Amino acid sequence: MRIESVVLMSSAGLAQRPTAVAPLSSLLRSLELAMAAATAAGAAAAAAAVSLIACYLLLHRSSNKLPWFLQTSSSRASGRRTRRRGLVEAIGNTPLIRINSLSDATGCEILGKAEFLNPGGSVKDRVAVKIIEEIFVLQALESGDLICGGMVTEGSAGSTAVSLATVAPAYGCRCHVVIPDDAAIEKSQIIEVLGATVERVRPVSITHRDHFVNIARRRALEANNWAQRESNKTQTNGLAHVSSETTYGKLAVTQRESNNTQTNGFASVGSEMPHSEKCDPNSDSKGFFADQFENMANYRAHYEWTGPEIWEQTKRTLHAFVAAAGTGGTIAGVSRYLKEKNKNIKCFLMDPPGSGLFNKVTRGVMYTKEEAEGKRLKNPFDTITEGIGINRVTRNFMMAELDGAYRGTDKEAVEMSRFLLRNDGLFLGSSSAMNCVGAVRVAQDLGPGHTIVTILCDSGMRHLSKFFNDQYLADHGLTPTATGLEFLDK
Ligand SMILES: Cc1ncc(COP(=O)(O)O)c(C=O)c1O
Repeated sequence: MRIESVVLMSSAGLAQRPTAVAPLSSLLRSLELAMAAATAAGAAAAAAAVSLIACYLLLHRSSNKLPWFLQTSSSRASGRRTRRRGLVEAIGNTPLIRINSLSDATGCEILGKAEFLNPGGSVKDRVAVKIIEEIFVLQALESGDLICGGMVTEGSAGSTAVSLATVAPAYGCRCHVVIPDDAAIEKSQIIEVLGATVERVRPVSITHRDHFVNIARRRALEANNWAQRESNKTQTNGLAHVSSETTYGKLAVTQRESNNTQTNGFASVGSEMPHSEKCDPNSDSKGFFADQFENMANYRAHYEWTGPEIWEQTKRTLHAFVAAAGTGGTIAGVSRYLKEKNKNIKCFLMDPPGSGLFNKVTRGVMYTKEEAEGKRLKNPFDTITEGIGINRVTRNFMMAELDGAYRGTDKEAVEMSRFLLRNDGLFLGSSSAMNCVGAVRVAQDLGPGHTIVTILCDSGMRHLSKFFNDQYLADHGLTPTATGLEFLDK
């Protein structure tokens, strides 16, 4: 049995029984026993123990309030109107908005999950939280103690970087982001203002050692090595000192200095820290690579969190779900959860131009050999939408359960964004607009009377320089002209 499915099963089981929590030492002992069996069964038991410890960690984070996945559905549903304890608890429980214009035009109930209302401005806040919390659990398995802090690194030009930078201080973490230097400058400015360090690098193929994702992975390793050396020095000399001999050393020093002066720095977030007594934000602790594409915490964030919210908010009556994929975490987690609840719910991919996933879903093959990601020198995506489309099958996407796929064009996404702005007052980013095109396509195929859910991933405010820039659109022949939804006529 796959490890991830065991984690899911055990988490789901615990969610129904929020009873007493065993002491961590006994959880760790049970894990040691599980680890002793070096077979598939041992791995499964170990994964179950990871989930138990995750529960322990989260319960202790918030002793006067159960963590989200242990709350009953009714308390989760009412959560948005209640007081939240710290930034992390303000993530999720986003409203499901009826998109009136599209619902009225199609005769379906078209509902958008308003993820742009998360504190970090996108659906990726959930992923950032889940990645960091699972890392703490793994560290607890190694060290026998639950300690927060460390350096989280990620290679991302977009929402995940912003979300990691947003939540990192709440966990006593530093954040280092590596992005291609052709990404909009505002993005690195935002990430830096949030207190993270940013490294802008030349864009190269994913197979190149200096692709931004590969550099981010390396930075985490460097941080680990550096922390190890510092710890060895302390043990030898009885004294710790800050070294600037490595990249990480320099990063750590810069970060600390800048954080001392920033409102969103470590100094001001003590009340939000899950284990403030154990967090030493200035400690030279470990580095870890968030790895959103292959890290299954991404999928689990949506399977355990976004999916259940949609299920409850639709009062268990939805007929279809549709979304585009970047890492694939959202569509995989939500589709799998919904299918488990009701296998008749139809789940669809909406794919932007240049992405190979449509072919993968509809024909089982992704690309010709020549098109494979890594064979190209430049960004292979022929789209102005951001955060969606990919030409490799990630581990996260592999978990998706899909009934089919649609293809959208940039023109449709642009037109949809303006239509929603004019008719509903919804100011949405490019991937959300593409998702809404997908929702209308599904409505056209299923016919009136169906409830269709999609994701409103982020706001248009993140897209002023391209998607909402008239000159940019004119240069690409994408100036919007539609007065209604005629651009979606079949
Ligand atoms: C704005 C935006 N929308 C949608 C997505 C796609 O979500 P996922 O990575 O879960 O497939 C991303 C991913 O980075 C994104 O940044």
